[in-house]
Amino acid sequence: MRHFVYFSKSAQTSGNFDTNDLMRAGRMDIAIHTLISAFFLSHGFRKDVKIHLLFYGQPNPPRHIEIQVTDKLDISKKDVGNLIKKILYKYKEGKKTEVFPGCFIEKKSFLKVIEELQNEGKKIFILDKNGESIRKIKIPNESVFVLGDHEGLPKKELRRLKSISESVSIGNKMYFASQVVAIVNNELDVRNI
Ligand SMILES: C[S@@+](CC[C@H](N)C(=O)[O-])C[C@H]1O[C@@H](n2cnc3c(N)ncnc32)[C@H](O)[C@@H]1O
Repeated sequence: MRHFVYFSKSAQTSGNFDTNDLMRAGRMDIAIHTLISAFFLSHGFRKDVKIHLLFYGQPNPPRHIEIQVTDKLDISKKDVGNLIKKILYKYKEGKKTEVFPGCFIEKKSFLKVIEELQNEGKKIFILDKNGESIRKIKIPNESVFVLGDHEGLPKKELRRLKSISESVSIGNKMYFASQVVAIVNNELDVRNI
């Protein structure tokens, strides 16, 4: 299973945003493009991917949304904004709620989500322009790739995160988060992981 953890300091944490104005919802457009890159193929979906969206925008931070596409999930590229809206609306205090098949929401911090994935034995990689080239590293089957939105990863948590992970670069240019996910997916495809 491939895991992507996407951190956004600004993505809105309530469902009352306008899907025609996603930039005003704390750059929800970036989260949506990243999700599309994680799951969508020309003629199907990647079912071996889980995305963890960590939203820290107002009014209810933090929110952890976990999505894995299964045959039971009705998902369309044109309507990912509404899917996220509905998941945010269905948050219930104190529990992890499955809103749609494979789609969960809970209140959990960015570091806690990553620490739990590490405790399950998964290898953590931070996506960082200055890290080791992705072409040179060993990537196990159960891997977690952590990336940020237009503002990058949170400075406060970065020290702890670096102590439990390896930094990996996809090249010396600064890419969009969605482009990074597409390139990592391709690298894993090429390696048959
Ligand atoms: C648009 S970039 C963030 C730009 C932000 N101003 C910064 O300095 O981090 C979004 C995310 O993509 C990842 N990223 C961008 N370019 C990368 C590269 N060349 N190698 C690895 N990860 C990259 C990083 O995780 C980054 O947080």
